[in-house]
Amino acid sequence: MAKRNIRIYPDEALRKKCRPVKDITKSVVTLIDDMAETMYGANGAGLAAPQVGVLKRIVVIDAGEGLVELINPVFLEKSGSQIGDEGCLSLPGKWATVERPDYAKVKALNKKGETIIVEGHDLMARALCHEIDHLDGILYIDKAIEPPEKENEN
Ligand code: NI
Repeated sequence: MAKRNIRIYPDEALRKKCRPVKDITKSVVTLIDDMAETMYGANGAGLAAPQVGVLKRIVVIDAGEGLVELINPVFLEKSGSQIGDEGCLSLPGKWATVERPDYAKVKALNKKGETIIVEGHDLMARALCHEIDHLDGILYIDKAIEPPEKENEN
């Protein structure tokens, strides 16, 4: 495993629509392992493949409930609403308030190509929405209720 470089906004990879994974090759598995290492190394709660410059529909999340690896994730359900602060490893030092569903349920493939269902409330729902948005080139700043403020900007 190896850490990969995290693309920083406004890197153009962050605005691309990602392609579904057709075959879970060795390089896809290596990418996912690297993404997890990169996320943990940066103390993040999630990371999407375009954030390391790979335009594939893959995300990793650890919202405090263990590592979740999702290939080609699709929402089955979203409900409720929560308002909270959100950040992103591609926009270091910034936070903004974003409204998200309070519950989300996702279907995806795991590294073995098996269909998995992942669901969560609170932070997990927020992370699922934030990371899957990345796969369509959408950043949390697009959805911010108030524009992001830079840390130490007073
Ligand atoms: Ni992000």
